[in-house]
This record gives sequence, C-alpha cells and structure tokens, in this order.
Amino acid sequence: MRSLKDLNLNGQRLLLRVDFNVPLSEGRVADRTRIEETLPTVRLALEAGARVICASHLGKPKGKVRPELSLAPVAVAFAEALRRPVRFVEDCVGPEVEKLVEKLAPGEILLLENLRFHAGEESNDPGFAGSLARLADVYVDDAFGAAHRAHASIVGVPAILSAKGAGLLLEKEIRGLSRLLDPERPFAAILGGAKISGKIDALRALARRADALLVGGGMANHFVRALGLPVGRSLLEEDKVPVAREILDLCRAEGKTIALPSDFVVAKSVDDAKGAATVGISKIPDDRMTVDVGQKTLEQFERLLEPAATVFWNGPMGVFEHPPFDRGTMALALLLPESDAVTVVGGGESAVHARVDGRRRVSRVHHDWYIAGHRGA
Ligand code: 3PG
Ligand code: MG
Repeated sequence: MRSLKDLNLNGQRLLLRVDFNVPLSEGRVADRTRIEETLPTVRLALEAGARVICASHLGKPKGKVRPELSLAPVAVAFAEALRRPVRFVEDCVGPEVEKLVEKLAPGEILLLENLRFHAGEESNDPGFAGSLARLADVYVDDAFGAAHRAHASIVGVPAILSAKGAGLLLEKEIRGLSRLLDPERPFAAILGGAKISGKIDALRALARRADALLVGGGMANHFVRALGLPVGRSLLEEDKVPVAREILDLCRAEGKTIALPSDFVVAKSVDDAKGAATVGISKIPDDRMTVDVGQKTLEQFERLLEPAATVFWNGPMGVFEHPPFDRGTMALALLLPESDAVTVVGGGESAVHARVDGRRRVSRVHHDWYIAGHRGA
C-alpha cells in the first residue's frame, strides 16, 4: 500500500476519507479526538499543494438525510482544530459539489456532507462510488476506524482511482497492530463490551493466538450462561452462547488460561446505582443484571496481567457510560499504562481509555480491522 508521502499532490484534487464519526452533544462536537488524530495527514496534504476534499460518515442515517447527523458542526470543530477555514457543502456528490470542488484552490479544504445520507455508500453502489471518484484525482484513506467497512468511499473509490494511498494515521495504526501479529509472549487478551455478535471472529482468532483470555463486560454473560449458570436479566444474545462454549472448550483443549469474572456488580437497571450489589459468578439474581466486574475480579485480572509481555484490550468491563459502573473499566485503563507490556487498545470506546492514559503508552487501534484485514486502498 502506497503512502500519502509518495503521492504527487501538487494542484491535485485529493479525496481524503477520514473517520469523523465523532460524538455530538446539543449540536456540537463532544470529543475531538478523531479530528485531531487525522490533522497530520491534512497538514501534509495542504503543504504538498493539494486541494483537499474530506469525506466521512457520521452515525447510521441508513441512506436518509437526517439533519441531526449533519457534518456541519464537525466542519466547525475541524476548522478550529486546524486553525484554518474549512468549507462545507450540504451534499457529498452531484453537480453542486463538483462546481465547488472546481473552485477549490490548492491549500484549501472542503468537507462534504455525511456520506451515509446516500444508501449507495453502505451498499458500495458503483454509481455512487463513481460520483465520488469524479470529484478527485487522488484518493487517500485515513479513516482507520472505518477501514473494515466495504463501503463505497472505502473500497469503491480506490477501485476506480489509480493514484491512491494510506494516510499517516492509517499507517501509524497499522504499525501498532503489526506488533500483535507476532506478539512477544505471554500474550494476554482482555475482551469486554456489550455485544458478542460482530466480535465472534475476533474472539476465535484471539482464543487461538493469546496465552491468556480475560473476559468481562456483557461478553462475560455469555460465558456464564455457557457454564450453565443463571444470568438474571443481564444483556444476553442467547444464540451466541454456543460460541462462548466453543471458546471455553478450545481453551481447555489447548491448556490456555481463560478467566471469567469471579464476581459481578449487579443492579436492577443501569440507573440503579443505589441498589447495586456485588455477587459471585454463580449468584446472579433473577431480577438483576450485571453492570460491572467486581473488585475480586479486578485483583485476579491484575495478577494474570502481571507476567504479560503483550496485552490486547477490546471493550469495556461494564456499562461505563453510567458511573459508578465505570469502575472496572477505569481501573483497567489506569493499570495498563503502568505495565511494561506492549499494550494495544481497540474499539469504539478507546477514546475513553486514551483519556485516562496520561502516559500515552497505549496505542489505539480498531479491533475489527485486525481480524477482518484491510479491504481498502
Ligand atoms: C466507528 O465509530 O466505529 C467507525 O466510525 C465505524 O462506524 P460504523 O461502526 O457505524 O461503521
Ligand atoms: Mg465500530
């Protein structure tokens, strides 16, 4: 894959796929991490004399124009972060957009409206990919968080344009990830998060590669059920329980360590902080749900992580959006930068981890990418 640095960008129309899928709150960008991470690529492109056209998705509008998912507030935050003007256009394809692109001078930036306002983005419609490709001479992918999606702006456009390459963020994350392909051992993988579906391939691959598997979050409920224990009203995808059973069997057969939480914080709902209690793994009450891992589990995880030379972490340990059920996740986020291990954190919530990682030893990657492989440029 070619690098942005090897492309001739002078005077060229550059279509830069970025991942500006940022959290919004009351019409403003609530966290600029993803915008800031791609600034080095944008700056380099501007210095090289490119006419920069940025494209991103935001949320899941499913092919409809949803004003609350407009990238307009993102253009404002982008301009502020870059300290340069950013133009914004209320669509991402069509004659109006083409006219604006023609007028764009070298060193100027245009942000297109949400790609997913068009159904052709997610379906990788050739017509839509063609309309996007018409806007540009060169394509660069810096949208690391979205690189696993076979969408028009990620695989369709680079199939049409021959001048293409990877942005600096994408390159940096690939370097971080490649350290997991031949990890220094012992290699411990910590898996959490709400859903097991979408992570099944990751689970299987990690179970094969890792020396120790530590399971928390909603993911753990499936393993508890696979052991034949009650999970009460906990989040559970019943049809995914066999996957948990398969992983347990695989670990047993290969003599790998698999650690489930020995205790859970349980509550009536995610808002029931007052009624929360800690119970053992076999004692989840019928009318309660697991909302975090308990203190004993954290101590056990700490002991297991102690000898690790490489640690991969994906997914929170509890419903961290609802404190105090963020305790387990935050405890891990503070613990990992202290360790000497090479630590890789991936997944949609990794901005949270990065924020508590004062020493910046944690490299942020996206789990899906590692497993699915790059289908883009
Ligand atoms: C993300 O936030 O995970 C990426 O931007 C990809 O978004 P998606 O999961 O909606 O495809
Ligand atoms: Mg995602």
